[in-house]
Amino acid sequence: MCGIVGYIGGQQVNDILLTGLQRLEYRGYDSAGIAIVAEGQLKVHKQKGKVSDLVATLESNGQLQGTLGIGHTRWATHGFPNDENAHPHTNVTGSFALVHNGIIENYGALRQKLKQKGYTFKSETDTEALVHLIDDVQKATSLPLEEAVRQALTQVVGTYGIAVVSVEDPDLLIAARMGSPLILGVGEGEYFIASDAAPLVEHTRQVVYLNDGELVVLRRSGFEVRTIDNVKLEKQITELEWDLEEIEKSGYEHFMLKEIMEQPESLENCMRGRLRLEENCINLGGLIEVMDDLRAAERVIICACGTSWHAALVGEYLIEKFARIPVEVEYASEFRYRNPILREGDVVLVISQSGETADTLAAVREAKQQGILTLGVVNTVGSTIARETDAGVYLHAGPEIGVASTKAFTAQVLVLTMIALKLAENRTLTDAEMAEALRAVSQIPDKVRKLLELDKELCNIAHSYRFANNFLYLGRGFNFPVALEGALKLKEISYIHAEGYPAAEMKHGPIALIDRFMPVVFIAMKDRTYDKVVSNIEEVAARQGSVIAITDEGNGELDKLCEYVIRIPHTEEFLSPLLTVVPLQLLSYHVAVMRGCNVDQPRNLAKSVTVE
Ligand code: AGP
Ligand code: GLU
Repeated sequence: MCGIVGYIGGQQVNDILLTGLQRLEYRGYDSAGIAIVAEGQLKVHKQKGKVSDLVATLESNGQLQGTLGIGHTRWATHGFPNDENAHPHTNVTGSFALVHNGIIENYGALRQKLKQKGYTFKSETDTEALVHLIDDVQKATSLPLEEAVRQALTQVVGTYGIAVVSVEDPDLLIAARMGSPLILGVGEGEYFIASDAAPLVEHTRQVVYLNDGELVVLRRSGFEVRTIDNVKLEKQITELEWDLEEIEKSGYEHFMLKEIMEQPESLENCMRGRLRLEENCINLGGLIEVMDDLRAAERVIICACGTSWHAALVGEYLIEKFARIPVEVEYASEFRYRNPILREGDVVLVISQSGETADTLAAVREAKQQGILTLGVVNTVGSTIARETDAGVYLHAGPEIGVASTKAFTAQVLVLTMIALKLAENRTLTDAEMAEALRAVSQIPDKVRKLLELDKELCNIAHSYRFANNFLYLGRGFNFPVALEGALKLKEISYIHAEGYPAAEMKHGPIALIDRFMPVVFIAMKDRTYDKVVSNIEEVAARQGSVIAITDEGNGELDKLCEYVIRIPHTEEFLSPLLTVVPLQLLSYHVAVMRGCNVDQPRNLAKSVTVE
C-alpha cells in the first residue's frame, strides 16, 4: 500500500520525486525517502515521518542534484516505521537502491540463506532481503543488474512493485510488478514509474499499464518490457483520462470534503450515456458481451472490502428486488480462503474503488480458477482488477484521493442500481415501471446538490458530538448498509468507536449500551419500515439515548423524540442510500476536523490495501 515513484530523463529529478510522493501519500505515509544517481554517486535520503518532513530536510540540507532517481512513501508491513526501515534500501556496497510496495512472503527463508552467505541486515523489513538477493545473484553471475533483478524475482514469493537504480549505470531505471500496481509514464526522452497515475498527470498523459509478472528496463532512449520469465513483450501506450485539476483540492481544505461535494457531478458522470430516458433503458457498454450470462445467472456472489462491501450489501437488495436473482455478499478476504463452493451459473462480481485491493483481486483469481464469470465495478481505469475481470463497469467518479471513500461509494451504489435495472428490463418491470425508475434515478444528482446545502447544519450537529466516545448507527432494509457505512466513516477518520446495526437488532443486545452518553443515528425515511424504525427510536429515547434522525423533508413527527432531525429530499426507497449516506459523510467529516484528526490520511490507514 505504499507509493513508489521513479524518473529517468533530462530534468532535475529531486522535485519530480518529492511532488510525486506527495501525490501518492494517501497510499501510505509513515516514512519516506528518495535515492538519486548523479556524478558517479548514489545519494539516498530517507526518514520516518511524512513526505513534507522529507521535503523540509532536503531543503535545509541542499537539494540532491541528478536526473535519475526513485522515491517511496511507506505503509509499514514488516518493521516499525523508523529511519532504518524506510525505503529506499541499498545493497551492502551501496551501489544500487530499491523501493518496494508489497510483501515478500518468503523473506524469512531468504534472510536466513543470505545471512549464511555473510550478508548483514540493517533493517527489519522484508524488502531488504530482496536487495541482498539481487546483490547475491549479480555477484554469482556477473549479469547486468536488470538481469540479476529478473532472476532474483523468480525466487520471490509474494507481492511486489519495485523500482531500482544503480550508480554503475546512470542511464538505467528498472521496475517490475507482481500483485502491486505500477504504471509507466512516457515522455519525450524521459520516463516515469509510479504506483498510480497521480504523479504522472502533470508530466505526461501517455502511459503503459504494467501487468503482474512484467519487468521494464528504462533508458533515456527507450524502454523494453519482459516477463519475469524473460519473454519480450510489446506494450501499448494509452492516453490517461485524468487531469491535474481532478487531483488537486480545488480550494477545499481536504480532499474528502472536495469529494463529498463533487458527488452531484460524479453521479452525473457515472450515469452519463448509460441512463437512457428517451429509450427507456439502461446502457452498460462494459457488460454487453456478458449480459445474457448475467441475466441467466443462478446466483450472483459479490465480493469486496470495507466501504465497497457496504455498497455490495446495497447491491444485494437491489439485484434481488429487481432481478429476483439470489445474491450473496462476501468479504473478499473470507471468500478467498474459504475454498468457496462455486458452480455453473454462478457469477462473481467484485467492487473496488482502487482496483488494486489484494483480497478482492485474489477473489477474482479464485473465481477465474474455477471457471466462473467475473465482473468488476471499479473506479480506477486500467487497474489490475479492471483488467483481470472478464467484464465490468467503470464508476467514472474521477480520482478519489481521500482515504475515506465517499463519492466512490455513491457511484458504486449507482452502478449497482443500473445493473439491477438492466436485469429487470423486459423481465420484472413493465415499461411504465422502468420509466418511473429511470426518472427517479435521473433526479438523484439534483437531490444530492440540495442535500449538500445542509453542510452547515451537519457542522453544528458535529460540534455537539465532537467529544463522544461511542456511536451507534441504525437502519433497516436498503439503509442497513448505510448504517454500516456511516459507522465506518466516523470511526476511520475521527477514531470514535462506532457500530452499525440493522435497527431491529438493537433489542438483541446493543440496547444495553443505551444511555445518555450514547449518540444513536437512525435512518428513518418514510418507507415500508418507517413505523418500525420509529418504535426503535422510542425505545432509545425512553432510555435517554441521544438520537439523531435522518428523515424526509417535511416530516415533523420525530422532533419530540430526537436531539436532532436531519430532513432530506424524498426518493424511491431503492434509491435512498444515495441520499441518506451524504449527511453521514458530512457528519463524520466535521467531527473529525473538530477533533483535529488528519481527515485525508487517517492514522494506520492507506487508500489502497494492496497487501493481505
Ligand atoms: C473506505 O472508507 C475505506 N478506506 C476502505 O474500507 C476501502 O473501502 C477498502 O479498503 C476497499 O478499497 P477498494 O474499494 O479500493 O477495494
Ligand atoms: N513490505 C515493505 C515494508 O514493510 C513495503 C510495505 C509497503 O508496501 O509500503 O517496508
